[in-house]
Amino acid sequence: MSVSVKSESEIELMREAGHILAIVHEELAAMIKPGISTYDIDKRGYEVIKSYGCIPSFLNYNGYPASICVSVNDEVVHGIPSKTRILKDGDIVSLDAGVIYKGWQSDSARTVAVGEISPEAKRLIEVTKQSFFEGIRYAREGFHLNDVSTAIQNYVEANGYSVVRDLVGHGIGRELHEDPQVPNFRQRRRGIKLQAGMTLAIEPMVNAGRYDVRWLDDDWTVVTEDGSLSAHYENTVLITKGEPELLSIRKEEKR
Ligand code: MF3
Ligand code: CO
Repeated sequence: MSVSVKSESEIELMREAGHILAIVHEELAAMIKPGISTYDIDKRGYEVIKSYGCIPSFLNYNGYPASICVSVNDEVVHGIPSKTRILKDGDIVSLDAGVIYKGWQSDSARTVAVGEISPEAKRLIEVTKQSFFEGIRYAREGFHLNDVSTAIQNYVEANGYSVVRDLVGHGIGRELHEDPQVPNFRQRRRGIKLQAGMTLAIEPMVNAGRYDVRWLDDDWTVVTEDGSLSAHYENTVLITKGEPELLSIRKEEKR
């Protein structure tokens, strides 16, 4: 396994990719309402990504047939957009997107509400997001990968939810998926030592019920085995000697 350290000029391109990706997510979140199809979301995503001169990295990746992964309710990740899948009031929808800008990748995901959702669904979305922020407290030079994984799992489980085991985060750069794998659950080994210049896509997938998942017959869509709701939160993160930098947020939002 080799984990690459990016140069300042490479990081600058990943910042730009991430800034554009944040705009893509804003555009998608703004269109979410009862009555639209998951295909409508993908179509808009493709258009916005192209309008910024980027390539949708998911399109045709290992044969994936769309630009955005749109996963509704008990769908964990990799839901395939469809004209017949219509969002309804009370649904939660996970939007996962990736762009390539001048050869450099960014990858991020958000779960958003469709109309009015239950307090429990709201709490699931919030806990999933917060688990990411608990994890990245350890995403800095000198800590080990397992410090991040453990912090995510501990926070999720303290809140009564479970962390998906069959899917993990990943290194990212020129490729969408680079070393290392970034689990959201504790490992027996402490994992690599984090170093400034590493770029990781950290992406907790959290189920309201049990952690088990299964794949649908389309070979993409991952759903919870018990039918419980699932949420996803992901950013592309730069490791530094201090606070991690979120590369997949708008430049204006950086502290
Ligand atoms: N964010 C997901 C990941 O990191 C999305 C990739 S799925 C595919 O694996 F559509 F690109 F295949
Ligand atoms: Co990812």
